[in-house]
Amino acid sequence: MRPTRRKFLQSLLGAGAGASLPILCSGCNAAPKAKASTVGTTRRSFDTSGEAVFPKGFFWGTSTSAYQIEGAWNQDGKGESIWDRFAHTPGKISTGDTGDRACDSYHRWRDDLSLMRSLNLSSYRFSISWPRIQPNGSGPASSRGIDYYSRLVDALIEARIRPLVTLYHWDLPQALEDAGGWPNRDHVGRFADYVRLVAQRLGDRVSDWILFNEPDAFTELGYLDGSHAPGRKSILDFLRATHVVNLAQGEGFRALKAVRPDSRVGTAFSMSPCEPATTSENDILAAERAHAITNTWFLDPALRGRYPEALAFLPETAMGIKSGDMEKTRTPLDFIGINLYYRTICSAASALERAAHAQEWLFPVKMEEGQQGPKTDLGWEVWPKALYDMVTRITRDYNRPVLEITESGCSYNDGPDANGVISDTRRIQYHRSYLAALSRAMAEGADVRSYHAWSLLDNFEWSKGYSQRFGLTYVDFNSEKRTVKDSGKWYAKIAAENRLGKVSD
Ligand code: FCB
Repeated sequence: MRPTRRKFLQSLLGAGAGASLPILCSGCNAAPKAKASTVGTTRRSFDTSGEAVFPKGFFWGTSTSAYQIEGAWNQDGKGESIWDRFAHTPGKISTGDTGDRACDSYHRWRDDLSLMRSLNLSSYRFSISWPRIQPNGSGPASSRGIDYYSRLVDALIEARIRPLVTLYHWDLPQALEDAGGWPNRDHVGRFADYVRLVAQRLGDRVSDWILFNEPDAFTELGYLDGSHAPGRKSILDFLRATHVVNLAQGEGFRALKAVRPDSRVGTAFSMSPCEPATTSENDILAAERAHAITNTWFLDPALRGRYPEALAFLPETAMGIKSGDMEKTRTPLDFIGINLYYRTICSAASALERAAHAQEWLFPVKMEEGQQGPKTDLGWEVWPKALYDMVTRITRDYNRPVLEITESGCSYNDGPDANGVISDTRRIQYHRSYLAALSRAMAEGADVRSYHAWSLLDNFEWSKGYSQRFGLTYVDFNSEKRTVKDSGKWYAKIAAENRLGKVSD
């Protein structure tokens, strides 16, 4: 989830998609519904100071991903991933960093497990690197790759920490990018094969799975915006990639269930409540379209077997949608994972912009960051109500599904003081306020099973390299020494007590 996502429609329009794309998809004749936004436009303050108790069995977790923490990019037979290639290409990562070593978790995972124990975690979300399992993206599973994750899973279970395993957190085998990347429909079957291999080897011990991390982010940033691997900038590639990933979500789900029918399978969607900038009808309509782009493009094909109505302008042929596809995307996900950091403010495009892009149906939506809350060091607005709004809206719109908060967190670059203490009070305040907002949504009926702080460790933050620290644990990237920050100590207490004390506590 990156701020650049907000540029989506502008870039789509800027590249002349409307003019060059011929046919509209089914349902485009349905007028987009200008139903009243449920996220509200009020600016009332949101009180998160009270006490909150979480239900028994609520999972307290942290999240990481393979490329961001493992390092060992070419060891034990691992194949090259698109992120290895991208980071090794000069100019792609603003700091010139790579994930070659990252947090060296591939070798130090036992240290990381000790950290998890000290944080009193009951859930750990990590991802499997596809090119460790299939170095070239197809063929049999590499036993060295599987063994690494198998040992980690055993140790987690022994420590009574639930493994929540993400199958795809953005590190596609480079060989599959060379074969066309996500726009290539053949990758639906390849993804399902990979899922099957992993499920066969780990499914006896892992029951909770996430198919994709933030499908909208990796398709947009990787294929449209170009700021992430594989760095393409093509509307057609992007549109096709979104549909192929929707198909892969369906096939991956069925592949997993075929191996382990009683597993729980979901996806971690990046979500952000889309608020209209004003109460004007046009801004409300813009916010609904932004909601479809941001939050439901990959959810509705699964749960409703169709693309969101507010995306009615999507060109069916350009996306490569074939007859029968929407039955294949339809997938009864067992839970919806929500990654949430901030809200999005939406407005209709100006008359000038509209005139410049004649197609009224390709409605330009402006998506901007909120400006009222404090900003993190990455410039993301801290807005706890965003989590409340999103969770309550999904609960309403999808008939109270099971939810897992699969990521939330903040980048603050506080380092150790003279005594080696990292007093990151702003991070404590962030998690405290987001958790309070979450508990309020739960009190109103949302079925939320977990909260995973992004992240266990400071790590490689994609195109920003090591310049942004999101961890509850500080990592010295020279020595790889880990030091639990004050926020980590605070989180350990919350996790142990299963409740948030009052702000004054
Ligand atoms: C999310 C990504 C995660 C991390 C956080 C900060 O969008 O899923 O890998 O980069 O943002």
